[in-house]
Amino acid sequence: MKLPASAFALFLALTATSVHAANLYAGQAKAAAVCSQCHGIIAPSVGAPFPSLAGRDADYLQLALKQYRDKTRVSDIMNAIAGSLTDNDIANVAAYYSKQQSQ
Ligand code: HEC
Repeated sequence: MKLPASAFALFLALTATSVHAANLYAGQAKAAAVCSQCHGIIAPSVGAPFPSLAGRDADYLQLALKQYRDKTRVSDIMNAIAGSLTDNDIANVAAYYSKQQSQ
């Protein structure tokens, strides 16, 4: 049987969307397990030397994490952490933090 081209195009469109749409639940899990140790979810502990991530622009967070990952932005701590993040991890965690209410 030969599928109409439109069915194939629809299939491509659907799979592409599910791969690229950020997954907030995965982002939340990553943030809770890893990032919140230093950055907190809403805000880092008072006086802690970590930048707050909640409510920041998702594109900015993604860019920063990719720069940490490829070491064009240098930070011993963040280079090590971002080094193990996939593109999906970065998209998910950036989307999650950008949707949190900052204080
Ligand atoms: C062990 C502590 C620690 C953990 C865990 C950690 N970070 Fe960081 N993060 C830092 C520090 C310290 C900085 C500041 C680095 C600098 O500016 O040199 C930073 C900076 C950042 C920045 C840049 C913020 C800005 O204002 O430009 C982003 C984005 C970021 N972290 C995201 C994350 C994410 C997402 C995670 C979890 C996957 C994470 N961090 C886990 C310590 C940590």
